[in-house]
Amino acid sequence: MKIAVIGTGYVGLVTGTCLAETGNHVTCVDINVAKIEKMQNGQLPIYEPGLELLFNRNISQQRLTFTTDLASAIESAQIIFMALPTPPGGDGAADLSYILGAAADVAKLITSYKVIVNKSTVPVGTADKVKAIFEQHTNIEVDVVSNPEFLREGVAVEDFMKPDRVVLGTRSERAKKIMTELYAPYVRQGNPILFMDEKSSELTKYAANSFLATKITFMNEIANLCELVGADVDSVRKGIGSDERIGKRFLFPGIGYGGSCFPKDVQALVKAADEYVYDFEILKSVMNVNERQKTVMVNKMLKYYHDDISGKHFALWGLAFKPETDDIREAPALYIIEALLKKGATVSVFDPESMENVKAIFGDRIVYAQDQYEALRDADSLLIATEWSLFRNPDFDKIASLMKERVIFDGRNLFDLEKMIDLGYYYNSIGRQLITRPENTNELQAQINELA
Ligand SMILES: NC(=O)c1ccc[n+]([C@@H]2O[C@H](COP(=O)([O-])OP(=O)(O)OC[C@H]3O[C@@H](n4cnc5c(N)ncnc54)[C@H](O)[C@@H]3O)[C@@H](O)[C@H]2O)c1
Repeated sequence: MKIAVIGTGYVGLVTGTCLAETGNHVTCVDINVAKIEKMQNGQLPIYEPGLELLFNRNISQQRLTFTTDLASAIESAQIIFMALPTPPGGDGAADLSYILGAAADVAKLITSYKVIVNKSTVPVGTADKVKAIFEQHTNIEVDVVSNPEFLREGVAVEDFMKPDRVVLGTRSERAKKIMTELYAPYVRQGNPILFMDEKSSELTKYAANSFLATKITFMNEIANLCELVGADVDSVRKGIGSDERIGKRFLFPGIGYGGSCFPKDVQALVKAADEYVYDFEILKSVMNVNERQKTVMVNKMLKYYHDDISGKHFALWGLAFKPETDDIREAPALYIIEALLKKGATVSVFDPESMENVKAIFGDRIVYAQDQYEALRDADSLLIATEWSLFRNPDFDKIASLMKERVIFDGRNLFDLEKMIDLGYYYNSIGRQLITRPENTNELQAQINELA
């Protein structure tokens, strides 16, 4: 099939590349000239494991091309995917201007039937709005399909090639047939294509993300409680996760969810519910708790340093909102850096993939280390914000030799508590007991007494 993908970001590029991989001819179009030029020169603009191989293969086999020219991209395309941003507008509702603007541009150009597929996360009713735009600008028939994307950055290629399910919102038999044919290679193992109406499909995406954000947030609250009552969140996590009704995934506590999806999607669903005069109380609480959770690590540090971190120097490992991506949108690490700088501290950071993105925000306000150990030089303590694999088994002797003190605040619970005691670290993680060096035992007891 001939396909155009409008918007070549994390979703559009993975979609375009993976659709080319099964033999389709895909043209990716973007308004970002630098990005398109980079891809025309065979360079990936994002870090996504496994993508490069498919990207190179499909370019060299001439099934994947890139352009800034919308007209040429859609001319012979039978299916046009939209993978455009839907950021929060000023009031928190999803900003649909990218989608509706692109729909109008496409509508003015088409000369034959097209299936317009929306991959962006959009509020209920957007397919109808897009359809209305086409009817306003052209007499050519189109079908507008809602096809929300569930890929996870970091495993996006695998998620696209072997999705748990494909959700397709359309009531058009013609579009159903075309989309079934397109997705057939991706559901060969029996994972379902779920057809439904457009509104249900649009809501499915928000419901999925909001549910997952709620699950994480619930666990973060359990973790906070664990610290207070003297329980261990890892044990509680395993205890509840073994219950099939609950499931093991999305139960790891941390320093709040971030990323380009959960924060904006939860907010947009609350806002959409408001418009229907429905008070989505549970999601409002999720948003509030998540804001609070982002401060947990900095508050622990402030407590340790008796509210004065002015002149202290900190090492921060991990900047991306999760491992295996260079995406820093709404990353908790950004909040932490800002909070530390505001209190007069200095920060050295290291992340394997997202340093350039962070540089674009913080410039020379922080120090960018070449590797995780360089970041530690003369640091008063180490903070961990992202659970990259390379942080999981560090050389603790080297850490100790580089830092002023053996102090670690771990927002991702990477290390074993017993091991940290043996190594003589003050180790403060999430939802677990505070581990301190023997000479700090009195301080630990004081802290426990205070919390109790
Ligand atoms: N990133 C994810 O993990 C993920 C997962 C599922 C769904 N989504 C949803 O998919 C959508 C896209 O997300 P993303 O992370 O890929 O965004 P992104 O910001 O990475 O990419 C969007 C791209 O669209 C381009 N663009 C903007 N206006 C354009 C126009 N008029 N014509 C052509 N290109 C244009 C931008 O230059 C950018 O390259 C959002 O609605 C998001 O919520 C994202």
